[in-house]
Amino acid sequence: MKRIAVITAGGDAPGMNTAIRSVVRFGVNSKIEVFGVFRGWSGLINEELKQFDHRSVSGIINQGGTILKTARCPEFQTQEGMERAYATIKKYSLDGLVVIGGNGSFAASHAFGNKYNVPCIGIPASIDNDINGIDATIGSDTAVNTALNAIDNIRDTATSMERIFVVEVMGRDCGYIALAVALGGGCEDVIIPERKFDLSLMCHDIVDGNLRGKASWIVVVAEGAAHAEDIAKQITDMTSLETRAITLGHIQRGGRPTAFSRELALRLGKEAVDCLLRGERDLAVGLCCGKINTVDFATAIKKKELPVELWYNLIKTLT
Ligand code: F6P
Repeated sequence: MKRIAVITAGGDAPGMNTAIRSVVRFGVNSKIEVFGVFRGWSGLINEELKQFDHRSVSGIINQGGTILKTARCPEFQTQEGMERAYATIKKYSLDGLVVIGGNGSFAASHAFGNKYNVPCIGIPASIDNDINGIDATIGSDTAVNTALNAIDNIRDTATSMERIFVVEVMGRDCGYIALAVALGGGCEDVIIPERKFDLSLMCHDIVDGNLRGKASWIVVVAEGAAHAEDIAKQITDMTSLETRAITLGHIQRGGRPTAFSRELALRLGKEAVDCLLRGERDLAVGLCCGKINTVDFATAIKKKELPVELWYNLIKTLT
C-alpha cells in the first residue's frame, strides 16, 4: 500500500474535516502518499485530486463541513461514470480509497470496489446515524446538540406564549435525531418513520393537558415521517389551539464538531488507514458496542433498527 486517496461523499457532516486530518496525518506518518479527492465521486470521475501533506490539514480539526467539498453524484451510478473513476484510480496508481460518508456512499463503495477490485474502507459520517451495526456516525452527536439548542430556545417562547410547537428535524428515513432531541429536550411527543402514529390520540392528550393547565407542548417530527406544517395544521384543526411549525433544516448539518464527534473521527481515520495497511477491504470502521471495530459494507448498508419502543416509552414516561 503506497498511495491512497480520501474522499468525502453525500451530505456533509460535522467532523468530516477531523476525519480527513486523521487519515492524512496517519497515512503520511505511515509513509503512504495520500491524495485528497474533491467534490465526492465526481472528483474521481473528473480527475479533481491533489496530493496532501501534513500541513494540508492544519487548522481543520474543529471546522464543520469538508475541505474536500462533497456532492451527490448520480453519474457514479452509471457504467460510464464508474469507468472514468476507475481510469483516474489507474492513472494515479491509487492502491486504496478511504470513503468518508453515509450509507449511500458505502453502497457506492461496495459496488465500485468489488466491480473494479479497488480496496475501499468506509468511515461513517452522517448526521442521520443510520449505518447498520454501528453505534454512532461522525456528526450525529453534533447535529443532535445543534437541534437540541434550537429546541431549548423554542421551549422558552413556547412556555412564555403558551403555544404548541411542531419542530421538524432531519434524518432522511431514520428517526434517530428526532428521538434523541425529543428525549433530551423533554418534548411531549415525537413522530418518526419507524413507528405508527395516532394524531387524534395526541390531540386528545393536548386538549386534556390544556384543561389541566398545561398550555405549551413541543412535538418533534422526523422529516421522513411527516412535515411540521402539515402536522401543525392538523393539530390546529383538531384542537382549535394555536400551533406553530418550524423546520430546522440544514443548520443541523453545520457547526463545529462536538468533542465526541472529533474523538470518533480521529480514531476512525487512523483505523481506516490501518485497515488498508492490513489488506482489508469492502468494510466500514465504526464504534460497535463502544469499541472501534469493522462492519462489512453489505451489513452496514442494511436498514438500521433503533430501539424505538424503549426510547418512545422513556419520552412519554418522562413527560
Ligand atoms: O443525509 C444527510 C441529510 O442531511 C438528511 O438528513 C437529509 O434528508 C438530506 O441529507 C438532505 O440532503 P440535501 O442537502 O442534498 O437536500
